[in-house]
Amino acid sequence: MQETLGFCQETRPESCGFILFGATGDLAGRKIIPALFGLCEKNIAPKNFYILLAARTPLDRSGLESRLRASLTKAGFTPSPESFSAFQERTEYMQADYESEDFYKRLSLRLAVLDARSGVKKKRLFYLAMPPAAFEPIVGRLKSGGLLSDPEDCSCWSRLIIEKPYGASLEGAASLDAGLKTSASESQVYRIDHFTGKETVQNVLALRSANRVFEATWNNRFVDHVQITVLEELGLEGRANFFEHMGLAQDMMSHILQLAAITAMDLPATFRDTDFKAEKKRFFESVHPLDREAVVKQSVRAQYAGYRAEPGVAPASPVETFLAFKFGVDNDRWRGVPFYVRAGKKTGLKKTRIDLVYKKPDLGIFKHIDIGYPNVFTFNIQPDEDITFSLVSKHPGPKLCFTPRSMRLDYRADVKEAQSYPTDYERLLIEAMSGDQTLFLSSFEIRFMWEFLSSFTGTWKGGPQASPLYSYADGTAGPAEAADLLKKDGRAWL
Ligand code: BG6
Repeated sequence: MQETLGFCQETRPESCGFILFGATGDLAGRKIIPALFGLCEKNIAPKNFYILLAARTPLDRSGLESRLRASLTKAGFTPSPESFSAFQERTEYMQADYESEDFYKRLSLRLAVLDARSGVKKKRLFYLAMPPAAFEPIVGRLKSGGLLSDPEDCSCWSRLIIEKPYGASLEGAASLDAGLKTSASESQVYRIDHFTGKETVQNVLALRSANRVFEATWNNRFVDHVQITVLEELGLEGRANFFEHMGLAQDMMSHILQLAAITAMDLPATFRDTDFKAEKKRFFESVHPLDREAVVKQSVRAQYAGYRAEPGVAPASPVETFLAFKFGVDNDRWRGVPFYVRAGKKTGLKKTRIDLVYKKPDLGIFKHIDIGYPNVFTFNIQPDEDITFSLVSKHPGPKLCFTPRSMRLDYRADVKEAQSYPTDYERLLIEAMSGDQTLFLSSFEIRFMWEFLSSFTGTWKGGPQASPLYSYADGTAGPAEAADLLKKDGRAWL
């Protein structure tokens, strides 16, 4: 195991109860339940900790057991009988009727019993894995049922995690936010975007902060352009209903903007929540949403060829499964540097990466020779987890010839250590249990995301005449038009 240096901060989750609403839903089954298991398995869950799953579906003990097993198996776990039963012992189920006051009364009594049994002092993390329309009424009832503690009271806490979509439009998101704030304070609301919890995304900031050699060139004097790639091999995975309402842009925009911010924001003075959010906000304030003309000229939306034949998809669905676009950042650091983004489903491979492409040399012996872009700084976020820096060096031998080379820092070199570090959801759950909101989104960021997104969706409402929906073959990295977006600027996707 490699040694760590100097600054080494550990997040310590507090003993608490974890209450998952929507526990039989897709998000809970795919992400949250496996993350809870992972925390227990890796021994990073709090010492005193219980899990209460709640959903409308009636479930007895054996029904719960088969759901837990199915969810863990799908997530790739093969728990030993001991670790499964230890997890099961911490986990209870309660049938929910979110509209009835009686449910919240019963919930309150049940939590009091679980608190007492587990040695937890009224510290409760509620995860609302529900559609956004349910957030406000549920939070209102938690409040009126006495289940949301006073944020000023230091002896106990109640926190709420909510997940995208945060509303269904800019106006809807604003009213959801205002509605939530009538019952809960900002310090109690944790808006999750699981990309911020990815180990390799955090490393972007760590690397930038610790190594001045990069920070000095992280600007428009040296960088020609930035590419953000979020391609997925998977298609709908049975989520046609969700995806038909969302489309790729709505589904992925928050993730894309978070990657952009972490790459390009100025470094905060500290990694404390307020400093970090203030810098992120300054970054977003420098990104102007595209106007209608820019959306038409600088973006490409497309659908994979087999999409309309997927179960649950409308035969003439206009929903995009791929989006590429270019945007700019109007600040001294990045003015003039284009940021190119592409994201899509069914592209034949999973590839999430960020590339900083440095300018070509235009002095000395290379004044009149185009050797392309010799320096590219790449953060492979997933599935590869590494950092590479490409450069040109002399080819060994008697002649003076230049060869492209790449330096690679493998993030998973120590496999054993890698297996013990938390996954994205695991990390974010720990952060919420420890009361640290740094990696969660502010309401400003949600509003900005909707404003940015609305430029696209508003233009697309004009139909294919306003902005065509291209097609790409399943298993390919998007339509030819996405390549043209860079080609016309004399560049290419990496
Ligand atoms: C989710 C989207 O937020 O992120 C999914 O709803 C997408 O459609 C997923 O597949 C990608 O996340 P990850 O961590 O698997 O890259």
